[in-house]
Amino acid sequence: MAPRIDIINGPNLNLLGQREPDIYGSETLASIEAACRALADRVGLDLHFFQSNHEGALVDRIQAARGDGKAPGAAGIVINPAAYTHSSVAILDALAAFDGPVIELHLSNVHRREAFRHHSYISARADAVIAGCGAQGYELALWRMARLLGRA
Ligand code: DQA
Repeated sequence: MAPRIDIINGPNLNLLGQREPDIYGSETLASIEAACRALADRVGLDLHFFQSNHEGALVDRIQAARGDGKAPGAAGIVINPAAYTHSSVAILDALAAFDGPVIELHLSNVHRREAFRHHSYISARADAVIAGCGAQGYELALWRMARLLGRA
């Protein structure tokens, strides 16, 4: 069975394509998802793509990735926590309760931006961090997941 990978996106990423395109690029989240699906099919990953503007919904989604007695969980998580990167202990704690690899992803190079974006609560749990590669960062994260899971 293809390993399941959850790609989880935080607040305002539903506005990609319209939102500050000079910083985040012109691709929409839907076109990013389509590119990820094509790659996931190619390398044999079962992709689940999710976006929410709400911190609690993101925590619930990360907890769901753990699976339970009935449904199997995800093998790995790719997460762009967006603004919650810089504020959310709750998302860090939820990821800490997940056993598989976690890749933190940012479209922009947060280290070249305002000082408040330089600290990430999420990095303490991330196995890898990708920043500044734009929409391509999502595909790079999936390639890395494929490698970590023995699929590439
Ligand atoms: C972001 C960077 C964050 O600082 C910002 O709040 C976002 C998007 C990125 O993808 O570059 O919303 O995570």
